[in-house]
Amino acid sequence: MRIPLIAGNWKMYKTSAEAAAFAEEFKKLYHDTDVRAAICAPYTQLETLVKAFAGTGIGVGAQNVYFEKEGAFTGEISVDMLKEIGVDYCIVGHSERRQYFNETDQSVNRKLKALLETEICPILCVGEVLEEREAGRETEIVSGQVRAALDGISAEKAERIVIAYEPVWAIGTGKTATPEQAGEMCACIRQTLETLYDDVVSDKIIIQYGGSVKPENAADIMNMEEIDGALVGGASLDPSKFIEIINF
Ligand code: 13P
Repeated sequence: MRIPLIAGNWKMYKTSAEAAAFAEEFKKLYHDTDVRAAICAPYTQLETLVKAFAGTGIGVGAQNVYFEKEGAFTGEISVDMLKEIGVDYCIVGHSERRQYFNETDQSVNRKLKALLETEICPILCVGEVLEEREAGRETEIVSGQVRAALDGISAEKAERIVIAYEPVWAIGTGKTATPEQAGEMCACIRQTLETLYDDVVSDKIIIQYGGSVKPENAADIMNMEEIDGALVGGASLDPSKFIEIINF
């Protein structure tokens, strides 16, 4: 039985004061549900959120990490640094990092391996760009990203990864994939996992959808059989919208 995960990705929004205000408001609205909830925040807000959400069941995640243990890597943050703060999740391979910060399938793979040495749960993002979808190449692209990301990762470790299918053309555009399109692609990811491992493993892995998820479309998307939650950008910045999505 897969427990859905609905995670907010704040991207580069909110100061610490704004994060603290969000947490206070959100805690008042949040009640235990059948889904897991988490917020993935900028590094400087992580400690504030971990403290604010302690004992509530609401998880906290980072949006990136570097794969080396330590060293002369100016500006980077290691897995151990995240672990010390007490984060539960870490996004890896978001399309914005692939697009603007030279994230590659290889660096994604190394980041996953580094995170899987700890208890931190990686949220691996995959998704095609518009031209790839228009060329009918979406399944080839996405299953290729999944294969490359999981290269050399054991079944036991792979089971702990959350995968977020985020079509790039649906991110921040207001253009959501239809529930059928999202469901098909999540099924394709599960199929890829079955080929890489087996059906027992592929059945356990949480596969989210991300891209313009909002209170109005959350239920339709998350009621699809293959979709186990959502990675929510813009709508996670507002406590009342985010709680509506969680309580879909
Ligand atoms: P939006 O929900 O703002 O489209 O962002 C989606 C996303 O990139 C989540 O990681």
